[in-house]
Formats: sequence, structure tokens, C-alpha cells
Amino acid sequence: MATWSAPGKVFLFGEHAVVYGKPGIAMAIKPRVFVTVRNTKRPQRAKSPYIDGCFDAMGVVGSVYINSQIPSSSGLGSSAAVTVATLSAINDEFSLHKTREDIANMAFEIEKTVQKGRASPTDTTVSTYGGIVFISGGSRRRLPPQNLHLVIGDSLVSHSTARMVEQVAELKKKHPEIIDPVLDAIEGVSMSAIHHLNNPRELGRYMNMNQSLLEVLGVGHPQLSRLILAARSAGAFGAKITGAGGGGCMVALCPKQFKHRIAGAIEASEARAIVTGIDTEGVRKEKNV
Ligand code: MEV
Repeated sequence: MATWSAPGKVFLFGEHAVVYGKPGIAMAIKPRVFVTVRNTKRPQRAKSPYIDGCFDAMGVVGSVYINSQIPSSSGLGSSAAVTVATLSAINDEFSLHKTREDIANMAFEIEKTVQKGRASPTDTTVSTYGGIVFISGGSRRRLPPQNLHLVIGDSLVSHSTARMVEQVAELKKKHPEIIDPVLDAIEGVSMSAIHHLNNPRELGRYMNMNQSLLEVLGVGHPQLSRLILAARSAGAFGAKITGAGGGGCMVALCPKQFKHRIAGAIEASEARAIVTGIDTEGVRKEKNV
């Protein structure tokens, strides 16, 4: 029996733009998914195309048990974390000798297949390696870790990443003269923000700019706007949607002393708040229980 866990993620900058090869910056965060795999003749599995994809890709059969701290379908990368942790647990339990890089690449291929070709390698890379990751086209680079204080607001409004990505694609097709410059502007925000990762006040301003551009892409939602305004009013340096939008989560970058006040403002707006920070480990082996 082998148990591995992998962290969730937030997009600090560049969601949707990354689907078009633009840069993005994402960070691994503390909530984790724990996956136990057992080599057994009578396999029992959670019904999930991600789990099936993992066993198929590794060419083995076994049982799996999942315990997740990450709300699913919220934009916090739960499917990537499940996939990365499952592949790692299978790798360990069946002594398959895959490297971390193999795991990251296989996890991305599985995500892409399940999401019908519409996925960037962001979630799977961040969940595998942890820390802050810069994604641009095919390249992925770890950035120096920063002690950023984040409050996530889960709007509890359900959404579909595939549908939101599709919606942006349709808008881009209909109005390339508007959407292409917006994607260029998001790229500009990400490329500027990268120089201010150790300056939360400045970083917050870039997050607010990114939020305005996401609204032009049509991925906002009234409840997300409410949470973003509540967080900013309670003292956040900046706040924006994280992930696909249309529901799911927002993220606020906070002064340390205000994070609980900001979490309270989010909870008072009929949402669930998660006070969190960076995870620098990525996927890891857990002691079997
Ligand atoms: C979803 O968390 C982020 C998107 O950019 C899609 C992706 O990167 O795969 C909308």
C-alpha cells in the first residue's frame, strides 16, 4: 500500500491566456489530496476518468482510496492533484521507477485527454513540483518561492472549466479585434508582475488589472465580483478570479494582519473562505496509516 499527496493551486496571473500560449504564473497552495493505492487482485476504484487514465497509463490494476481537502470543480486544481498523487502512488506501489518529470508529463496528457484537449500544463506542473511556476507555451520554470498570504473565496457557484474555455474561444473567434489585444494585455500584466513577486502591494495592483481583463473575456460572475470587492474593501492588496471563472473561486492577496478580517468579509458574503499560503513541496509520499 502506498499513500501520496499533492497540493492544489491558484493562478496568480494569466488563466485563459495560457490556453493561447501566453505566460501564466501559478502557485501551489496548502490544501492537498491524499491518494492510497494498493496492488490487489480485486481492484476497487473511485469512478473517475482521471483515476482510470492513471491506471491505464501505468499499465497496472489496483485499488485506490482518495481523501481530498480541495473542493472539486472550484478552480483549485483538484483533478490535477488527484492525477499527480495517483500516478505517484501507483509508481511507488508497483515500483515503476518513473521520475517526477515523467509524472508531470503523464498527468498533463491524462488531463488533456479527459478535458478533450483543452488544458494547459499549469495545474499538473504546479501540483507535481510545488512553489511558484511560470508557464509560457511549452516551457515551465520554477520561480523563487514567496511567503504570500492568500485568502481564497469559494463562491459555491458551480462552473465548468471546459465550458468557460469554450466560451472564451467563441468570443475570440467572434471579436478577435477585441479579445486578441486583451490576451496581449494579460501577457503584459504577467510579464510585469514577475518582477514584483516579493512586493505584495505592487503584486496586488497587477492582480486587480488582471481581474479587469478577465471581465472583458466574459468569465466574471456577480458573486465573484461581490467577493472580490469585499476582500478589497477589507484591506486586500489585490483580488481576482482564480481559474476558469464563471463560478468557482477568487483569490485575495492580503497583508498578514488582515487575512482573518478578509476571510470574515468573504464568509459574510455567503461564500467559503480558505486562509492559505504557498506549498513548496509538491507531490510527496505520506506515511502509510
Ligand atoms: C483553469 O484553472 C485555467 C484555464 O486557464 C484552463 C487551463 O489553464 O487549463 C482556464
